[in-house]
Amino acid sequence: MLQVNDVDSLHTTCQAWREAGERIAFVPTMGNLHEGHLQLVDLAKTKADRCVVSIFVNPTQFGPNEDFDRYPRTQEKDCQLLADRGVDLVFLPDVETVYGDAVRSDIEVPAAIGDKLCGADRPGHFNGVATVVAKLFDTVNPDIAVFGSKDYQQVQVINWLVKKLGLAIKIIAAPIVREDDGLAMSSRNQYLSGAERQQASRLQQVLQCIEAELKAGRRDFSDLCDEASTALNKTGWQVDYVEILTPELREAGEKDRHFIILAAATLGSTRLIDNLECSISP
Ligand code: PAJ
Repeated sequence: MLQVNDVDSLHTTCQAWREAGERIAFVPTMGNLHEGHLQLVDLAKTKADRCVVSIFVNPTQFGPNEDFDRYPRTQEKDCQLLADRGVDLVFLPDVETVYGDAVRSDIEVPAAIGDKLCGADRPGHFNGVATVVAKLFDTVNPDIAVFGSKDYQQVQVINWLVKKLGLAIKIIAAPIVREDDGLAMSSRNQYLSGAERQQASRLQQVLQCIEAELKAGRRDFSDLCDEASTALNKTGWQVDYVEILTPELREAGEKDRHFIILAAATLGSTRLIDNLECSISP
């Protein structure tokens, strides 16, 4: 596996692959890789001839009081995992390589996509995500890029970005990879204490309860979300949001049959997110 830190080498290698008629799949990450990330790689490898992964903890998507400094950086182990999984190239830029001396977001995601849900709790977060992904897309110039559905709103932002920039990149949303008890895998799970870890799968359970209620015919979306929030808040969580929306993240109505149920909540000092797609037979 090639390990590349600079844009020129990345560009030259990808260009050579393209000239040889090979298709490139790209998986952007912030490292500290777990099985959730690695399954994106597995999927990417089935879709193209070459698989490129980036590891870059992107400063512009972290708020001033967020965990940028303490975000776990485990580059050596990550590279080993990626090599074992058959990745062709890992791109490991530093902040200057990506941003030069202008460490700021220069893409503004429309409020209708970026200011709700996680965007409401993390102002500017999706501008930072869109900015770094646009820069990475520009250097890798992949045919395909794979993102996890765990970050459902992020996938919507990336779809918007690709359209806005008129890029010919096919975006694939991969399923959420979970621990045995249902907790969605996340680099942040390791911040949880033993007791919090026991509690953490409640987030997924609450989403499943809402799904069961929707399937049983309830359509009082706002009450369902309030009940779920109350149940979580009573058991030591601090809920940021629980929402039932359409798959395009619009407000759900009586006639809708396809929903996405999304939640974000903090346990101790760790903010977790999860979601569940739910379809109801007509
Ligand atoms: P990161 O949190 O490292 O996640 C990288 C990719 O892995 C994202 O597409 C995310 O949705 C996916 N992922 C994480 N946990 C997953 C799980 N349990 N199941 C399936 N996919 C999972 O998301 C980012 O980094 C950044 O915002 C990034 C896109 C790299 C831009 O900086």
